[in-house]
Amino acid sequence: MLDAAAESGTRAMVATPHSDLRYQFDASLCRGILGELQGRRTDGPRLYLGCELHLTPENVSNIIRDPAGYTLNGSDCALLELPDRIAPPMVNPALDAMTCAGLRVIIAHPERNLYLQQQRSWLDRLVESGCYLQLTARSLDGASAPRHQRRPRTSCNAVWPTSSRATLTAPPPACRVWQAPLPP
Ligand SMILES: [Fe+2]
Repeated sequence: MLDAAAESGTRAMVATPHSDLRYQFDASLCRGILGELQGRRTDGPRLYLGCELHLTPENVSNIIRDPAGYTLNGSDCALLELPDRIAPPMVNPALDAMTCAGLRVIIAHPERNLYLQQQRSWLDRLVESGCYLQLTARSLDGASAPRHQRRPRTSCNAVWPTSSRATLTAPPPACRVWQAPLPP
């Protein structure tokens, strides 16, 4: 993946291992592995550490207590994966708590979430309330779907490519666009 990214001109990548009920995120272990990878391809993209937090009470309290330990490269951006079985009244307080703690919440791959696929209006409300959306690139052409269902899966108007390589010119007004600044 690193070789392919280097060859396609990618300048920076953020590795975001999951923190969920199965995997415990260990920042220092991951940082060491990332350093090894960077050493193997010093001319490749710069590598940064982040974490993809599943929405659990422990993860929410951890990131509020120690934001730099769980955000993308120690920034104010929190990558959050929502469970497939969502009850908005249960999710909203967690999102509010993170936002009040000064975090910018990025919802991870909402296009793959079974609830959000059916409840686009709630997705729009999340964006209106200040959340950002991260899409898996292959979802844009449907390639990540089962073979017999391959077609574009993302038509929500709250989504817009943020890649600097995107050829689209201007986002519709309702979109939130986040261009990640490259650290020095
Ligand atoms: Fe995920």
